[in-house]
Amino acid sequence: MMNEITLLRPDDWHLHLRDGEMLAAVCGHSSHFGRAIIMPNLVPPVVTGQQAADYRDRINAALPKNVTLRPLMTLYLTETTDPADVLRAHRDGVISAVKLYPAGATTNSASGVRDFDKVRPVFEAMAEAGIPLCVHGEVTDPEIDIFDREAVFIDRVLDPVRRKNPGLRVVMEHITTSDGVDYVGAGDDIAATITTHHLVINRNHILVGGIKPHYYCLPVAKRESHRLALRRAATSGDPRFFLGTDSAPHPDTAKESPCGCAGCFTAPNTMSILAHVFEEDGALDRLEGFASRNGPAFYRLPVNGDRIRLVKRDTPAEYPAKITTGAETVTVFDPGFPLYWHVEDPA
Ligand code: NCD
Ligand code: ZN
Repeated sequence: MMNEITLLRPDDWHLHLRDGEMLAAVCGHSSHFGRAIIMPNLVPPVVTGQQAADYRDRINAALPKNVTLRPLMTLYLTETTDPADVLRAHRDGVISAVKLYPAGATTNSASGVRDFDKVRPVFEAMAEAGIPLCVHGEVTDPEIDIFDREAVFIDRVLDPVRRKNPGLRVVMEHITTSDGVDYVGAGDDIAATITTHHLVINRNHILVGGIKPHYYCLPVAKRESHRLALRRAATSGDPRFFLGTDSAPHPDTAKESPCGCAGCFTAPNTMSILAHVFEEDGALDRLEGFASRNGPAFYRLPVNGDRIRLVKRDTPAEYPAKITTGAETVTVFDPGFPLYWHVEDPA
């Protein structure tokens, strides 16, 4: 039995750090990661290269001195995004990707895209320059059942967009269904992030025995067969699948509300949870691919130069149940099992 494993330092290819007090409270909790793709869904969203550079500077200023996390910035695609600004920001090293939110799909997505023909020039420029498009893959049509929104998005939006824009490099973010796994697993110029929490919870965790707002995120967790498909994809060794935690902190008052918002805060305990999950599936030797190698390969970046160590001990690693930010608290994702895998950083 393996009780210890060293990994190239992992990266988080989908992370929400927010801004201001929340940013200050959460950013240090991603300390084990070398780099993180930072989501641009602030209020107002990060839509220009200049705003991305300013946000990057605020993140770097907020990071604790001993934390080496490097933020990789993204632009929030709108119907008025200027292709020249995207190209400039990418050429100058300010952004690593562009994020597509269908309008209304999730938290702070009101300025997202409604008419995909309006963003064709941006897609063409991105395909030409090899800039990845990170996609929130859910339709927002009120007639589509929320549990079907990912599958319908693939058929109605993603596949047509990819056909019309050959060479566009797409990351389907936080996939939650076997449909997402099958679609990504069969394609070129496409990859998918998988979150920590979607490897652990299914929809019963949210709804059985009382409603659990801290397990509510978007895309919403699906039935167990889909969770198992995600586990198989993450542990398969297929380089198209890599870690994007989608750690999405919200104040508890916003989650524990009659209209609770979506997002799970998984940054603090993600690596301990992943070690547990990969061990359970007999795939500890594939964790480095998922967390440290496949992401940089898709983003055409080198792997990180140093390592972390995961050690399985007899007593569980302790993580706070909540962290505080100003007058608010934020609940840390509870996987529902003890975490015997401890992170030693540096290795
Ligand atoms: C994210 C957030 O809170 O910003 N929420 C979530 O449930 N994942 C937005 C997102 O990534 O969809
Ligand atoms: Zn997200």
